[in-house]
Amino acid sequence: MNDGQAHWEQVYSTRPAETLSWFQVAPEPSLDAILGLAPTKETPIIDVGGGASGLVDALIDRGFADVSVLDISAAALAQAQGRLGAAAAQVRWTVADVTRWTPPRTYRIWHDRAVFHFLTEPEQRAAYRRALEVGLAPGGFAILGTFAPEGPERCSGLPVSRYDADRLAAELGPEFRLLRDWREAHRTPGDTRQLFQWCVLRRR
Ligand SMILES: C[S@@+](CC[C@H](N)C(=O)[O-])C[C@H]1O[C@@H](n2cnc3c(N)ncnc32)[C@H](O)[C@@H]1O
Repeated sequence: MNDGQAHWEQVYSTRPAETLSWFQVAPEPSLDAILGLAPTKETPIIDVGGGASGLVDALIDRGFADVSVLDISAAALAQAQGRLGAAAAQVRWTVADVTRWTPPRTYRIWHDRAVFHFLTEPEQRAAYRRALEVGLAPGGFAILGTFAPEGPERCSGLPVSRYDADRLAAELGPEFRLLRDWREAHRTPGDTRQLFQWCVLRRR
């Protein structure tokens, strides 16, 4: 287990999900962004770094039939699986570090809330882009939520890179066209506010 994986296993094994700063009662910005792309029930959707998020529950509830969740932490995915019960069998689960992962197939929608911002080294971002370019079908959509420039400097005790929409689009490169961007003030379980930058980009 590398340091990154050990960190996240420790977080999810020792703290209840609903006390973590990124916890949401309902994953509304993510769900609205996904539904705004008018996916069919068969659209392949992946939540990268989905952790124990309830986004997968919301997608399954709405009848989406091709949903995948990837996370570096097995403990996080086990929590989501336990919560879903029998419905967990409808989801494809992968424990992997996205920067060392070669997607085995393509997806039409790639969702990432608060994962890309942990990649503070250029090599890590290049590796993420490689995975994205293998995993996202041409014409597919990437939905990314990171801390905004006015957002916190750390997340889960780790340093993050903060982005506005132009910087995030520039990071992904000319292969991606920015379709939509907005800011969200996320209220944490500890009742502080964290400013997120959201972007929807389309792969050419
Ligand atoms: C801030 S949490 C956000 C979790 C989830 N997206 C949400 O909105 O509730 C970051 C998540 O990214 C996962 N993660 C961190 N680095 C990762 C990596 N290199 N590859 C895959 N997952 C990673 C963590 O285990 C954690 O679940």
